[in-house]
Amino acid sequence: MRTESPNHLSRGQAGKWDPKGPLLTLPPDERLDLPAIFGNARPVELEIGTGKGTFLLARAAARPEVNFIGIEYARAYALYAADRFRRHGLANVRVIHADASSVLAGLTDGSLIRLHVYFPDPWPKRKHQRRRLIQPQFVDQARRVLSPGGLLLVVTDHRDYFRQIEAVLAEAKGLVKIAFPKMADADGQIVGTNFERKYIAQGRALFSLARMKYC
Ligand SMILES: C[S@@+](CC[C@H](N)C(=O)[O-])C[C@H]1O[C@@H](n2cnc3c(N)ncnc32)[C@H](O)[C@@H]1O
Repeated sequence: MRTESPNHLSRGQAGKWDPKGPLLTLPPDERLDLPAIFGNARPVELEIGTGKGTFLLARAAARPEVNFIGIEYARAYALYAADRFRRHGLANVRVIHADASSVLAGLTDGSLIRLHVYFPDPWPKRKHQRRRLIQPQFVDQARRVLSPGGLLLVVTDHRDYFRQIEAVLAEAKGLVKIAFPKMADADGQIVGTNFERKYIAQGRALFSLARMKYC
């Protein structure tokens, strides 16, 4: 694994953002040594599809006793989020520029206390739906990397995808349904991501679920 320096950026990006520090890249399926990444063995929460980093920024600032990892495969967003974390001087958050499935595969069993998935791409066209993140294989990995008592948390605005997620989770062993924990400070928000704020402003219905690993 390496920390990206501005030398790895295109000329335009290097001038615009300085992601030095919080941005990591890793070869596919590389094993992730979380204590080595953070320099301590504090509990870790991971968000898939960090986007601009708004959720992690607020959560990492509010919980310095916890470490946070964001995974984002759109390079521009990964750079943007990393730069925000650096500017806020947050030592407990990193962004990995990679596909979520390869990062999860590199985590040891039971290494996360929370796995956040907020507004995963819904791929609405039928022929694209196999690209959806939350499938049986993903749920198996999620359960493996969560510690006992750890939480899988999902929010989406897409009713059809939500039904599919519930159906996949209904078949999964070792995960029990729980109430969604309170996380956002602002009234009416569930988690406080950019997409959530946008969809609330548009008056869209939102769907959330939480599962706890019990074995
Ligand atoms: C709809 S956006 C939501 C962003 C953010 N969670 C929010 O609520 O504002 C979905 C994000 O997930 C990222 N993403 C989708 N699939 C991914 C994957 N397999 N691995 C990493 N990032 C992914 C996309 O690049 C995009 O930034």
